Amino acid sequence: MKLVFATHNNHKVAEIKPLFPPSINIVSLTEIGKTLSENAILKASVIYKELKCNCFADDTGLEVDALNGEPGVYSARYAGEGKSAADNIEKLLYELKGNTNRTAKFKTVIAAIIDDEQFLFEGVVDGIIAETTMGDKGFGYDPVFVPVGFPKSFAQMTLGEKNNLSHRSIAVKKFLRFLEERV
Ligand code: IMP
Repeated sequence: MKLVFATHNNHKVAEIKPLFPPSINIVSLTEIGKTLSENAILKASVIYKELKCNCFADDTGLEVDALNGEPGVYSARYAGEGKSAADNIEKLLYELKGNTNRTAKFKTVIAAIIDDEQFLFEGVVDGIIAETTMGDKGFGYDPVFVPVGFPKSFAQMTLGEKNNLSHRSIAVKKFLRFLEERV
């Protein structure tokens, strides 16, 4: 049987999975949706149903052209469940080794539920995957993502610099405009 463990933490899933028999397929909330939108809606709707409170959730994926859009919705567990961001980056650089096509995009979908209505806001930023990690700020794939037109990776930028151009900030700005128009 499939049993949903209501967490987004893949480390926890990796830890408890071996405690269950193979007949019970433990899946985390991040493994439920097949798209970023589905995942974002799922996260927001769980909160809305429980708390009856206006809320929003985001889901983000890195889509690499030479890998046919992978890791995409699987970005968090690209190197396997319970693996670290460094492991995900290592796998990505391995898959792209020797490949000159390094174009990619970061995509964020925000799902908001406001007064019982659901809204989606998307933010996309184009970039290239660097040959090696650069910088130690940020998180996730930031050390290898260099946005188009900029000389440095997200991990070499201050939070303010990243927020000026990132996928998530684009989606948030759309969400904010929507909220301002509504009130
Ligand atoms: P989620 O949206 O939290 O599920 O993120 C999916 C995966 O993408 C995780 O591995 C995150 O670490 C990574 N990720 C999400 N947003 C960013 C970002 O802004 N920069 C770098 N990696 C990110």
